[in-house]
Amino acid sequence: MDEFYSEKALEHFMSPKNMHVIETADAEGDYGDPECGDYMILYLKVDGEIITDVGVMVYGCPASIATASMTSELAKGKSIEEALNITDQNVIDALDGLPEHKKHCSLLAVSALRNAIHNYRKNKNY
Ligand code: FES
Repeated sequence: MDEFYSEKALEHFMSPKNMHVIETADAEGDYGDPECGDYMILYLKVDGEIITDVGVMVYGCPASIATASMTSELAKGKSIEEALNITDQNVIDALDGLPEHKKHCSLLAVSALRNAIHNYRKNKNY
């Protein structure tokens, strides 16, 4: 069982990637964890089927910041369909694991990503 943050998770917490608002986003999605009150908004730029840019704003714990950062990196460059298949376990694995009691935090970013894609499809009617 992982008890501590991996080096990679610490790196993404200390220097998170893509922490910005995208004013010209094609879609955005948010998600809040009712258990802890942490909250995230994720912005998408999409060209055709490809996600060209991802921005995130997070109000949350270190794990939620690290997972938001990694989720944004994993989603960038992927097709909408591929991004929909990103799971919280994919994000945890990409961070070389998370402490057992922080694994649920990855749900925040993955859910915000799925909500953003859902909103994108709704706006585009497909
Ligand atoms: Fe709330 Fe981590 S404790 S997302």
